[in-house]
Amino acid sequence: MRVSPLLSFSGIFVCALFPLVICKEQRIPDGKLLVVTVATKETDGFKRFLRSAKHFNYTVKVLGQGQKWNGGDYMSAPGGGQKVQLLKVALEKMKTEDKIILFIDSYDVVFASGPKELLKKFQQARHKVVFSSESLIWPDRHLEDKHPHVIEGNRFLGSGGFIGYLPNIKEMIADWTGKDSDSDQLFFTKMYIDAVKRKSINITLDSKCRLFQNLHGALDEVVLKFEDGRVRARNVLHDTLPVIIHGNGPTKLQINYLGNYIPNTWTFETGCTVCHEDLHPLTALKESEYPLVVIGIFIQQPTPFVTVFFERLLKLQYPKNRLKLFIYNKEAHHEQQVSSFLKDHGSLYQEVKFIRPEEEMDEAASRNLGFDMCRKDQDCDSFFMLDIEVVLKNENTLKILIEQNLPIVAPMITRAGRLWSNFWGALSAEGYYARSEDYVDIVQGRRVGVWNVPYVSSVFLVKASLLRSELKDYKLFSSHLLDPDMAYCHNIRSKGIFMYVTNMHTFGRILSTENYEMSHLHNDLWQIFENPMDWQERFIHENYTHIMKDKLIETPCPDVYWFPIFTDVACNHLVEEMEHHGEWSGGHNVDTRIQGGYENVPTIDIHMNQINFEKEWHKFLLEYIAPVTEKMYPGYYTKAQFDLAFVVRYKPDEQPSLRPHHDASTFTINIALNQVGLDYQGGGCRFLRYNCSIQAPRKGWALMHPGRLTHYHEGLPTTSGVRYIAVSFVDP
Ligand SMILES: *[C@@H]1O[C@H](CO)[C@@H](O)[C@H](O)[C@H]1NC(C)=O
Ligand SMILES: *[C@@H]1O[C@H](CO)[C@@H](O)[C@H](O)[C@H]1NC(C)=O
Ligand SMILES: *[C@@H]1O[C@H](CO)[C@@H](O)[C@H](O)[C@H]1NC(C)=O
Ligand SMILES: *[C@@H]1O[C@H](CO)[C@@H](O)[C@H](O)[C@H]1NC(C)=O
Repeated sequence: MRVSPLLSFSGIFVCALFPLVICKEQRIPDGKLLVVTVATKETDGFKRFLRSAKHFNYTVKVLGQGQKWNGGDYMSAPGGGQKVQLLKVALEKMKTEDKIILFIDSYDVVFASGPKELLKKFQQARHKVVFSSESLIWPDRHLEDKHPHVIEGNRFLGSGGFIGYLPNIKEMIADWTGKDSDSDQLFFTKMYIDAVKRKSINITLDSKCRLFQNLHGALDEVVLKFEDGRVRARNVLHDTLPVIIHGNGPTKLQINYLGNYIPNTWTFETGCTVCHEDLHPLTALKESEYPLVVIGIFIQQPTPFVTVFFERLLKLQYPKNRLKLFIYNKEAHHEQQVSSFLKDHGSLYQEVKFIRPEEEMDEAASRNLGFDMCRKDQDCDSFFMLDIEVVLKNENTLKILIEQNLPIVAPMITRAGRLWSNFWGALSAEGYYARSEDYVDIVQGRRVGVWNVPYVSSVFLVKASLLRSELKDYKLFSSHLLDPDMAYCHNIRSKGIFMYVTNMHTFGRILSTENYEMSHLHNDLWQIFENPMDWQERFIHENYTHIMKDKLIETPCPDVYWFPIFTDVACNHLVEEMEHHGEWSGGHNVDTRIQGGYENVPTIDIHMNQINFEKEWHKFLLEYIAPVTEKMYPGYYTKAQFDLAFVVRYKPDEQPSLRPHHDASTFTINIALNQVGLDYQGGGCRFLRYNCSIQAPRKGWALMHPGRLTHYHEGLPTTSGVRYIAVSFVDP
């Protein structure tokens, strides 16, 4: 004999007869609620669900763990009968008849509030069983007319979530005899549209999403609501705050997005509240115990600053004998840089695999092969994807990512000064880039955390355990339709695996590989427009900025200023570039390269325009010299115009010195490109009017002096070796 549920809940019975005040006191205790869900696998989504349940102290019973899932593909076809079967068996064993059961999907669900609110709203619905509602009918459109009309809100039933008294739910599913692959939604829908059953079991729909928010068909209705250190989803159509958010059907990415905030995962007041959970600290480990990582380095296109990339790789903070390298180079152009790195440093690493351009392997195949190197190596703990255009400024990046302990995690990198980054916040309907509402805030660091996103590229860490389980035997990058990066992310998403991007630290940036010319010896010198930051780091003297800031500019002679400007590398590259070009002028008065064809004080030189460097040189003068000029000659503003900029070569047996002269300039820049005492003896510059000489020029330092009036000067003799200077006559 079964006790009538109505009698066993005298509180609610009373509630129907007396004013609301009493109702409140008669609320169902939290302890009566049991959350039941089916999860045959512990997906990332399931873990997210459990975390949200734990946050609000829900009691959860999980069914089907470790069982094979026969309920169909949750992304598309009908299915889910297996869930009903599992629930039926589980409920038959439950004897406490006054339990309230919340049956809910879990891979794509988060709780936005706690049991109290859920139970209160359930009571207010005044039915024994409340189903989530949908605006779209599924799976059988022909049943539309049979659905009772609702005054406001959604008319159709969603089986992904319902709540009710144990006896009523038992009654509801007692008749279930379906197959595992049958549609649970259709089963419950048929029950609901059957007026007799609907009344006897006492079923209603949560039409206005007070308890359940199904996102399918409702994306425009749902927004994040931040208030008082809490974050919820708000249904703006019905002005409700649903307790449970469900990314049903094709809305997995939206639930991922909302799950970055709900429940209180990230708020304006607290920032990220979960980013320090489940860390895997390396600090306690000896270096020899560090996880073994395969770093996959991919050169897919001609790229500037490849040498710098390898210099940075060497400085990565991680024991090299716990690293293996997989290097794929498609470009013959970079062959020399790669082999010279491997020759000098390859043996530091535990193992190196190198795919050369001659092998003509395509991008997808090379990336699959890189993954394999880790997958098939039982010692490998993680695979670190690192494309050649990535500028990892943070030497601790790899450690930070390992410590974050996530299946797939990318350090956020951006293109300097732009909104371009290595992740997407959302996808368009066609599967391409779309901007999420929080994208700009994340890129610009106004929201800091670890974000679940639909696409990462260029640099990320993948756990080997994933490669050996869910991603086993899987050519992740291959696709007939998609580019390898998109194919990869598509495959990860369709497996229900979460990809994260972290902006908890600054990691670096990504180079532009556009407009990279390959016709020179040192092509990076030409990158001042395309990659100005990298150009500066490579070529501008490390003390330039602070000398400018602190006005530490030296004055060796009256109105002659002396300051560091170029790195050694810049000096060497410029000299080598000129020697590579090789067409030094003869030092004669007749010079067809200049206007008028006559040079009064000829030198042995090569002009910047002979190596097609005048645009870049002008940009350099404008960016780095003009500010010094304006500081030291106040009131004079320069656009850094020049007709003559060139590199001069002084040699004892060629042209050792230059007789006194004025320059055809308002001011002149004279940069020493090599080192006295080391590369040559003698040299220097003397200003006759002041009888003042600079006899020990410093490599990479610039002299700046007025040109045509006061600073009559001469080049002092170079007595041995070869001396190079870069001279510019500015504002002629
Ligand atoms: C959950 O339970 C713990 C301990 O039982 C308590 O400290 C915490 O405040 C509870 N959280 C909520 C949201 O009720
Ligand atoms: C459903 O149950 C509620 C009490 O929970 C009751 O007030 C209502 O009349 C019932 N509806 C039907 C159709 O039985
Ligand atoms: C920059 O300045 C510091 C402090 O004066 C000095 O130690 C360092 O050598 C300078 N760097 C170079 C490249 O000259
Ligand atoms: C110029 O200076 C040098 C030493 O710096 C000195 O020997 C010489 O006499 C000076 N010449 C004149 C003309 O003052």
